[in-house]
Amino acid sequence: MPQEQTLILFKPDAIQRRLIGALLSRIENKGYKIAGLKMLQVTPELARKHYEEHVEKPFYPHLESFITSAPVVALVVEGPDAISVMRTMMGSTNGREANPGTIRGDYGTSRQMNLIHGSDGPEAAKREIPIYFQDNELCEYSLSLAASLM
Ligand code: TYD
Ligand code: MG
Repeated sequence: MPQEQTLILFKPDAIQRRLIGALLSRIENKGYKIAGLKMLQVTPELARKHYEEHVEKPFYPHLESFITSAPVVALVVEGPDAISVMRTMMGSTNGREANPGTIRGDYGTSRQMNLIHGSDGPEAAKREIPIYFQDNELCEYSLSLAASLM
């Protein structure tokens, strides 16, 4: 079982709707480790870097306006198969198509304002994590530490 790291963003709509805690709880309850965590304002330049593959698409200008409209929370989530499992927990891109029980399925009806970003594969995770985090902003620690102190 590969221990993977994936880049997760809580998007501006999640911040506006005060869902940071709810979304973070889902990730912690699942059992994944938070290796990095910060709040930041995405700039148009950062948006173009992040959404490199979408810059030429017709929806990109709206996507850029949205992702720069309020801060985001960026996380590096770590654990077994974290990349694909987080994608499953997020649900389909469009909130109206995402299954109930998924984050997008439970909290939204929009295709654009869909609350959360997650790297879509190992190559994407490798590219996206350094866009948001320097090496020294990621923490290595053991999740068994708290249990061993009890
Ligand atoms: P995409 O990478 O296809 O989706 P996902 O976030 O599920 O990996 O698209 C990136 C984001 O762009 C998506 O979360 C929402 C937005 N988007 C639109 O606004 N309109 C569209 O038609 C698509 C495909 C995406
Ligand atoms: Mg994507």
